[in-house]
Amino acid sequence: MRIIEKVKEMQVWSDAARRAGRRIAFVPTMGALHDGHLALVRAAKKLGERVVVSIFVNPAQFAPDEDFAAYPRDFARDRALLENENVDALFYPSAAEVYPDGCQTHIDVERLAPLLEGEFRPGHFRGVATVVAKLFNMVRPHTAVFGEKDYQQLQVIRRMTKDLNFDIEIVGHPTVRDADGLALSSRNAYLSARERQAAPSLFRALKRAEALVAQGERCAGRVAAAARAEIEGEPLAEIEYLRICDPETLAEIPRIEHAALLALAVRVGPARLIDNAMLKT
Ligand code: PAJ
Repeated sequence: MRIIEKVKEMQVWSDAARRAGRRIAFVPTMGALHDGHLALVRAAKKLGERVVVSIFVNPAQFAPDEDFAAYPRDFARDRALLENENVDALFYPSAAEVYPDGCQTHIDVERLAPLLEGEFRPGHFRGVATVVAKLFNMVRPHTAVFGEKDYQQLQVIRRMTKDLNFDIEIVGHPTVRDADGLALSSRNAYLSARERQAAPSLFRALKRAEALVAQGERCAGRVAAAARAEIEGEPLAEIEYLRICDPETLAEIPRIEHAALLALAVRVGPARLIDNAMLKT
């Protein structure tokens, strides 16, 4: 596995692979890798002959009061995990390499970014869209894989890719969960044993909503209330938002006529956890 720290070297590597006719599949990450990330890497292996994974904890997508400094980092472990997956190149740039003399250009996905996560994390998707566009220009992949766990992020990236004419196929990958349903996340490391026991209430809420819709309930308010009650039964969990939305526009909807997205963010102790499910009629 080639470890690349410089943008120019990444571009030269990528251009050589392209000239040799290799399809490049890319998985951007912030490291602290878990089986969710590795599932994306395995999916990428099926999409291209060359797989590039990036590890970059992007300061631009964290607000000043968020966990940028505390975000878990373990390069040696991540590197070994990726070696084991036979990844071709690990792109591991420094912040100075990604943002050499500041950055005056940003990408705002105007209508999608301010909703849901954007309401509670203003500027977050501006940081995400900008760094992903920069990573696309550094790695020059044919295809890139993103997790459905961050559903809104996936939609923001799809929109940005289309709007800016990136010739890159965006592929979504289903959420990878622990046996009790908790979605794998680098931030689960913040949970104490007791908090970890409270965390699967998010998954139970999603399942409760799915069951109601399967029984024929179409009123979004009633489905949301039942899901909410599932989490409110857990004293350590505090809901930030829980909404039923149109899967494309992410606007809240009053009735579940076709597919609808249930998206939620919940604080459990020091961790802010997000999850979602597609409710199908
Ligand atoms: P990070 O949180 O490290 O996630 C990297 C990728 O892994 C994202 O596409 C995310 O959706 C996916 N992922 C995380 N947990 C998952 C799970 N349990 N199942 C499936 N996929 C999962 O998301 C980011 O980093 C950053 O915002 C990034 C896109 C790298 C830009 O900085």
